[in-house]
Amino acid sequence: MGAESKVPQHIAIILDGNGRWAKQRRMPRGYGHIIGCQNLEHMCNVIKDKGVKYLTVYAFSTENWKRSRDEVEGLLKLFRQYLKRCMRSAKKNKMKVRIIGDPSAFPQDIQDSIRLLEDCSKDYDQMFYQIAMNYGSRDEILRGVTGMIEDARAGKLPPEGFENGKLKEELFERYLDTAGIPDPDLMIRTSGEQRLSNFLLWQLAYTEFCFVDVPWPDFHEEELDKAIAQYNSRDRRFGGVKEE
Ligand code: FPP
Repeated sequence: MGAESKVPQHIAIILDGNGRWAKQRRMPRGYGHIIGCQNLEHMCNVIKDKGVKYLTVYAFSTENWKRSRDEVEGLLKLFRQYLKRCMRSAKKNKMKVRIIGDPSAFPQDIQDSIRLLEDCSKDYDQMFYQIAMNYGSRDEILRGVTGMIEDARAGKLPPEGFENGKLKEELFERYLDTAGIPDPDLMIRTSGEQRLSNFLLWQLAYTEFCFVDVPWPDFHEEELDKAIAQYNSRDRRFGGVKEE
C-alpha cells in the first residue's frame, strides 16, 4: 500500500466460496467451511493489525437453513467451537463482539454462547466485530419496523425522531441490529459472485464494493491489501459530495 493509503474504518465481508474451494480439492463442502473458519480467525487479526476499527462478516444467512441437513449440522458444530474460541480472542484483542441477525432459531446452547460472548466483551473498544448469523437484511428491517410499531403503540417514540411528520433515518437506525455502528466503508465479496444476497441493504447505501475472484479460504493479507488499494483508488461520494 502507498504512503497516502487510507484504511477503511469499517469493512464488511461476504465470506463466499468455501464449498467451491473444497470441491476443487475433491473434499466435502464441510471441509471448506472448516478452513474458511480458520481463515476468518486469522484474517480478523490481520484486519485488526491494519487499524480497521469495525469488521462485519456474513457467516450464515436466513436462507442457509435450506442447505442439506449434513451441511447445516456441520456449520452449527463450527459455530459452537468458534463462539468459544472467540471469547478468548475478544479478550486478547479487547474486541467487542455483536451477533447481528435473529439468534432465536439456533439451538439453546448456541444462543447461550452468543449471550455470554456479547456480555463478556461488551466493555471492550479496541475493535468492533459483528458476526451475521441467521441474518437477512429484509428480516432485520421487518424486525426493526415491528419493534418501532410496538414502541409507537406504547407511546415511546421520541418526537425529535420525526421532522415535519416524517421519520428520520437516525431514529429508524436505532431499531436495526447494527444500531450505533457506522456504515461500512468497504464491502468485499469473495469467490466471484456480484450480488448482495440480502446483506446490509440499508447500511451499504454509500459503501464501495469490491468483488474478488478468490474463494474465502484463499483470501489472505495480499488480497486484502489489493481490496484496500482499490478502495483508495476510488473517489468516494456521498450524494454527489466528494469525501475530503
Ligand atoms: C459461503 O460459502 C459460506 C457460508 C455459507 C458459511 C460461511 C462460514 C464460514 C466462513 C465458516 C464459519 C464461520 C463462522 C463465523 C464460525 P458457500 O458454501 O456458499 O460456498 P459456495 O458458494 O462455493 O458453495
